[in-house]
Formats: sequence, C-alpha cells, structure tokens
Amino acid sequence: MSPSLSDTTQSRSGQSSTGSWVEFEQKQLQSPSQQRLQPFLKSLQQLLTSIWAQKTRWGLALLSLGLGIFTWAWLGAGARLDPYTAAVLSLEGQVSHGASLFALNCAACHGEEADGRVGPSLRGVSSRRSDRFIIQQVTGGKTPPMPQFQPDPQEMADLLSYLKTL
Ligand code: HEC
Repeated sequence: MSPSLSDTTQSRSGQSSTGSWVEFEQKQLQSPSQQRLQPFLKSLQQLLTSIWAQKTRWGLALLSLGLGIFTWAWLGAGARLDPYTAAVLSLEGQVSHGASLFALNCAACHGEEADGRVGPSLRGVSSRRSDRFIIQQVTGGKTPPMPQFQPDPQEMADLLSYLKTL
C-alpha cells in the first residue's frame, strides 16, 4: 500500500470512529501530496515576492503605459464625431438657403438681423463657438426656451454657413 492511501484510510477510520470532523480535516491537510505541494507553493510565493520587489520599476512603467493608452483611447472617443455631426461637416453649406432657414426658424428669437431678441445676438457667433457647439446647440434642445431642431445634415450645413457670415 502506498503511504498516501494508508494515510487516507487512517484518517477515514479516525473520522468514523471518533466522529470528529476536525481530526479528519487535519489528517487531510497533512496528506503527503499536500506536503509535497508546500515547498512548491513557498517557492512560488518567493518568486512573486522577488518579482514584486525587483521589477517594481517595470511594473510602474507598464502601469503608466496602460494609463496612457487608456487616456488616449478615452480622449480619442471624445474627439470622434457622431455620425450626424460628421455628415454636416462633410457637406458644403449654401449660405442663401441657410439665410431663409434662419428667417423661418430662428429670427423670431434671435432677430431678423441676428442681433438678438429673446435669444442672444448671433453676430460673430462662429468666432466664439465651434461648429460642433453650434450643431449641438441647434439639435440638442438642451437650453430652453430654444427648441430642439431636427434639420437634415444639408440644412444644418446651410444654417452653419449662414451663421458664419454674421
Ligand atoms: C424660442 C426661441 C429660440 C429659437 C426659435 C431659436 N433660439 Fe437659439 N437660442 C435661444 C436662447 C434663449 C438661447 C440662449 C440659450 C442659453 O445659452 O441659455 C439661444 C442660443 C443659441 C445659440 C448659442 C449662442 C451662444 O453664443 O452661445 C445659437 C448658436 C443659437 N441659439 C442658434 C439658433 C439657431 C440657428 C436657431 C434656428 C434654427 C435658433 N437658435 C432658434 C432661443 C431661441
């Protein structure tokens, strides 16, 4: 009989005779296979400890590299245009059509001459605001009482090019 087998048998019988689970588990913990495992676990622990101690600089380097990539991806996602905005910006706007869209939809609040009424003056707005901001302002509906408009990309491009003439 191999030592491990006899050991198991002993612990089993010990458990059945005394009915003590604690004794049973203690016996199990001391089984030869686990005794053989212990040095291995110990050296694994030592290995990890030494890696941690010696390669901390590499760890930090890797960590900052990871953080860098994360930030880059995050900023990239922020800079990426949504499909609507990308479509608007890819189109060439018609100022005259933009002017009539403005007269119909915007002049009541921003003034016939875009010099401001309920809404602020839009003179020189394109020097204060980015294209993306203006598109978001018109389509976002985030600043009541200005309503949310849903111009198709060409109409938005037309409006944008008109606003740039103000
Ligand atoms: C019901 C009135 C109303 C209408 C109609 C309206 N706006 Fe406005 N708009 C406002 C008000 C009020 C603000 C100020 C919002 C705020 O920032 O609190 C504003 C702000 C803006 C701004 C931002 C200006 C800046 O300097 O930040 C832009 C650009 C703009 N409107 C464009 C338009 C365009 C283009 C249209 C037509 C498609 C339009 N608005 C129609 C009321 C209106």
